[in-house]
Amino acid sequence: MAQRENLNVSLCPLHTRQDLIESCAELIKITWPCSKPERLHRMAAEETSGLPCCLVLIEHREDAPDVVVGHVRLVTVTSPETPRSAYLEAICIHPSKRGLGLGYKMMKLAERYAYDNLGCKQMFLLCLATTLGFYERLSYQLYPVLKLETEGINLLSHSPKFATWYGNKPLKGWEFVYSDGPCASKEVMKRRAFGQLTLRKYLTDS
Ligand SMILES: CC(C)(COP(=O)(O)OP(=O)(O)OC[C@H]1O[C@@H](n2cnc3c(N)ncnc32)[C@H](O)[C@@H]1OP(=O)(O)O)[C@@H](O)C(=O)NCCC(=O)NCCS
Repeated sequence: MAQRENLNVSLCPLHTRQDLIESCAELIKITWPCSKPERLHRMAAEETSGLPCCLVLIEHREDAPDVVVGHVRLVTVTSPETPRSAYLEAICIHPSKRGLGLGYKMMKLAERYAYDNLGCKQMFLLCLATTLGFYERLSYQLYPVLKLETEGINLLSHSPKFATWYGNKPLKGWEFVYSDGPCASKEVMKRRAFGQLTLRKYLTDS
């Protein structure tokens, strides 16, 4: 198994490395077989240097081409009472590279990117109880779910149960993705029918 110290990785927006779209799509499909990573081509073509954006963790290898070993997508949070924030989704590390500290490293790099390049002061995400420990190590804390409003979540459509939730606005031109499945209502969210917890982290310059 690869050692933590031997892995040479960096994080960058997918739209700056369009040669890695197929590698990224493969990772997302392996992680969520119901997902639609073929949409990455259009997403990367439309994205510039702001939100939303797909960030990829790239492994740089000596005698082989770069490969995507991690992915996280940052989406705009529109809740009026929150300072500029990003919602994180489709967070994954390649199955062969898990347990090596790469997930932790990718999240820290994504937080730095969001703070330095996007001016984000907070990060939000939903997680299952089974991954809560991972985010707690990164200092994420529970947040009341009903206050979260977003724009353009879940374009990769990996949730088999709900295509969107009541607080989400479609991204212009991408309305069709939400015909894939039902919208989780306020009541459904209250009952935590996603089976998920909302977490938040304040970002700082340290
Ligand atoms: C969750 C995921 C991103 C973690 O990535 P990873 O590279 O394996 O995690 P790391 O090796 O960086 O782990 C960092 C720390 O979190 C801990 N950790 C990792 N996964 C955990 C989990 N599911 N529950 C609790 N703790 C976890 C590790 O033990 C490690 O702790 P340590 O520093 O004390 O040793 C990865 O397992 C994954 O891609 N899973 C499938 C997709 C998924 O579930 N995404 C999250 C959706 S909310």
